[in-house]
Amino acid sequence: MEGEVTACDRPEANAKGRESPAQSERCLGAVEEIPDGGSRGYAPSPGGFTGLFAVRRGAQVFVYVNACPHVGLPLEIQPHRFLDRAGELIVCAAHGARFRPEDGHCVSGPCTGDALEAVAARIADGMIWVPQKAGL
Ligand code: FES
Repeated sequence: MEGEVTACDRPEANAKGRESPAQSERCLGAVEEIPDGGSRGYAPSPGGFTGLFAVRRGAQVFVYVNACPHVGLPLEIQPHRFLDRAGELIVCAAHGARFRPEDGHCVSGPCTGDALEAVAARIADGMIWVPQKAGL
């Protein structure tokens, strides 16, 4: 992910109308960079240590802090791979906790009943925006 060019870095993404009016948000990238039914990870915000990830379900995108509520480890088993083989649940690679994509609730594993930290994301012109401090 480091050094990776996302849609936010491209000139058209920075054109007028795609900038965050409040400058309190940051752009993760385009919705279409996430395969429908799939997931994508994002590097930490500048100065931060914890990245984010998103799961896409059609036009809906669910964004979470990439830290398992069990012991805080990143969840993905490979870059951008946060879902189980069936693509139905988020799975933590460390100890196998499983989470519902739509609300981050842990349905099995060592942190059952806990939840991922959800990030309030909004989509504008096909781009995903999150609070600047998400994950910090
Ligand atoms: S760190 Fe995720 S299940 Fe242990």
